Amino acid sequence: MPRFPLLADSASSLSDRVFGGTGQRTGAVPGRVYPLNVGDTYIDPLPAAQAQAQTTADHPRMHNYSPVQGEPVLLDAILGKVERRSGVHLERELVQVMNGATSGLGVVCTALLAPGEEVLLPSPFWPLIRGIIKYRGATPVEVPLWTRLGEEDFDPVAALESAITERTVAIYINSPHNPTGGILPDQVADGIAELAARHDLWVITDEVYEDLWYHDAPPRSLWTRADLRERAIVTHSVSKAYGLAAARVGYTHGPAGAMEVIRGVQTFFTYCAPRPMQLGAARALSEGDAWLAEARAAYRKAAATTASALDLPMPQGGSFIFFPAAPYLREGEQTADLLQRCMDAGVMLTPGTSSGEAFGDWLRICFTSVPQRELEEALHVLRGVLFPA
Ligand SMILES: Cc1ncc(COP(=O)(O)O)c(C=O)c1O
Repeated sequence: MPRFPLLADSASSLSDRVFGGTGQRTGAVPGRVYPLNVGDTYIDPLPAAQAQAQTTADHPRMHNYSPVQGEPVLLDAILGKVERRSGVHLERELVQVMNGATSGLGVVCTALLAPGEEVLLPSPFWPLIRGIIKYRGATPVEVPLWTRLGEEDFDPVAALESAITERTVAIYINSPHNPTGGILPDQVADGIAELAARHDLWVITDEVYEDLWYHDAPPRSLWTRADLRERAIVTHSVSKAYGLAAARVGYTHGPAGAMEVIRGVQTFFTYCAPRPMQLGAARALSEGDAWLAEARAAYRKAAATTASALDLPMPQGGSFIFFPAAPYLREGEQTADLLQRCMDAGVMLTPGTSSGEAFGDWLRICFTSVPQRELEEALHVLRGVLFPA
């Protein structure tokens, strides 16, 4: 039915202000503003991976289309990287290069979900995933989980199971996790794998922080479990660990039948990722192990500094710490007011509402977006707001 000037229902709740409204009054803040709200890095990528290192002398026709599946040299680098990181040799056909994980997850959701279907979305979650599910016309069903994992009488698998309806087709899992910095415990992974099998669910795994872990050894990649291999659609990115967010390059893999459809959908989304940056990403993945180890050490230190400044536990991975605002509120104050006070003092944080409807009174801080010395300055400022003398 014609409905001009109304737009599609599935898009009308989307907004570029998904990370919250605190950006509104930045212009009014005098002096330095520390952007601890954005999940980015201050570290320049491996020189060989940078945009200016890719030349037409080395790569004639660099500005032409790539094959839909991806640049052959990048596909080689991905197969090598997956084998080194997760100990699995993937068939080349099962890999699809994406325009970053944001677009990649959009392609995956378009391939897996039909309008009206539901996805279990353990919350809190990466702010964009809710909108990605919604623009497909599907419904994200938020299940508070990550912040409750330490509670003695909380059963995460039962919580997920009670949210399943006849319309549920998938569950989204991101570990290491944005925003809590948690890693899914093996026992919970066991339960989720069993739940997915029992209810015939797809498992959409988001591995963008797979290389940002702060214990002694990398956590096991969820998708490598034998009980998930045939139902996990896995998305990775070079944005986080390799400092290449502007490249917009990621990759997805999964079972053969699903990947054929996913490749078909990607053809109609963007056809291919930017060729120059696929070439850069290939260099990062194949030559960037030492660079990555150094970046991880710097982030580990930043994580420890942030946790200790805020008297919070050390995150296990990722770029963020997530914490309740309540202890820091003045009498009669709302979380939005506290965020504004942080901003007025010069520190931008992300409101918890971006990560789920149950998290309006939580805050997210990113510890990878500014260099260590600036992070320490920012934390000093933030302590002045959160722990007034
Ligand atoms: C959990 C998670 N998934 C996906 C993405 C998107 O990554 P990309 O830059 O590859 O689009 C992010 C970025 O913040 C993220 O935190």
